[in-house]
Amino acid sequence: MTAVHRRQKMRNTDQHAEDKNCLTLSRSQCCFFFLVLGVVLLYCSTNIRNMVPVWNLKWSMQNNSTNSAAELPETTSVATTQEPTTQRQSTVSSRVTKKTPETQTAQRIAAPYVSPGPYLVEYPYEYHFTINEELKCKQENPFVVLIVQVAPRNRAHRDIIRNSWGSEKLVNNQVVALFFLLGMQTGDDAEQVHRQLLQESREHHDLIQGDFVDCYKNLTIKTMVMLEWLNSYCSSAAYAMKIDSDMFLNVPNLVNLLLKAPRTNYMTGLVAHGGRVSRDPNFKFYMPVDLMSEDVYPPYALGLGYILSLDLTKKLVEASRHVKALYIEDVYLGLCMRQLGIRPTDPPDWNLFHVLPLSYSRCEYSNIIATTTLENMDLLWIWRDFKKPGPYC
Ligand SMILES: *[C@@H]1O[C@H](CO)[C@@H](O)[C@H](O)[C@H]1NC(C)=O
Repeated sequence: MTAVHRRQKMRNTDQHAEDKNCLTLSRSQCCFFFLVLGVVLLYCSTNIRNMVPVWNLKWSMQNNSTNSAAELPETTSVATTQEPTTQRQSTVSSRVTKKTPETQTAQRIAAPYVSPGPYLVEYPYEYHFTINEELKCKQENPFVVLIVQVAPRNRAHRDIIRNSWGSEKLVNNQVVALFFLLGMQTGDDAEQVHRQLLQESREHHDLIQGDFVDCYKNLTIKTMVMLEWLNSYCSSAAYAMKIDSDMFLNVPNLVNLLLKAPRTNYMTGLVAHGGRVSRDPNFKFYMPVDLMSEDVYPPYALGLGYILSLDLTKKLVEASRHVKALYIEDVYLGLCMRQLGIRPTDPPDWNLFHVLPLSYSRCEYSNIIATTTLENMDLLWIWRDFKKPGPYC
């Protein structure tokens, strides 16, 4: 820069001389002088242009760092990964997107795929909804939203639920909404399953599908996508219940419990206290020490069926940004609850939720909220019997 200035100065002094000289020199001599001046000017501007690449490089480095924050081990990259996720809450598939090959390539270039290993899942991640019911909650304004987590292929369970406890839409003057949440079917018949799902969705308008691979290992993804969905599309409901597809649910008892329950920071179900962390690699729920150093899990509501006040959906998604996404779905929510400093609430009566299948009797089923069922139980027959008029006990 100083060189440029000096040259500039020289040129200015030359200019003075030149002005005087031009009066005395011939026109051609004067033109020659201007030509020389032009060359000097050109030289200066080339010099400036040579400096541009340095500035360009800095600029492109800054740009790269925002594109692939995950690659830079800087503390600021944590902040940048957190910010967009809260934004995502509001925008998540308000555009129901199918990934185009271009965006997929762009993502792959920005952050190369790294498997999280067998005990963690791909979350947080911007999943999208390939089947959605964006308006139903706004239209129906439910008091409680039931979300059944089910495999895409499992139409049989969905139909049983639709024709049994899922048919209770208005209880005690409270609206109950029902949705089934599924991921993507993989394998040879994936296309066919998807076509059938679209048809089923047109018939019943109760399917929500996220674009993650639907498998047992991915249940934590399913649950977190459920919370994101509730927060985006059902945030005016008072409560949500996650329930497995092989459960019997006594909807009136559920609604009666919730009419008396706290409206915020409330999570209930069958709460496990002092659940031991399994260190046996052959056990279904093995958890290595490097991912969970404590020997006991914080209290958590068993995944077969738990209830949340709707405010918790957003809080848990935010908390999940600070807790590694363990593959055990209900344990993971327990860890997120601890992160929030909120304890799950025990139900008022230990007989309300059953993890072991409760054999059917009208009297027993009239006193519970939820129980697992056995494969060989005819749930449609049970439902007909249960709804018969007359005293339960
Ligand atoms: C879980 O879902 C993610 C996202 O779709 C996928 O990349 C991963 O392979 C799935 N996990 C398994 C075990 O299939």
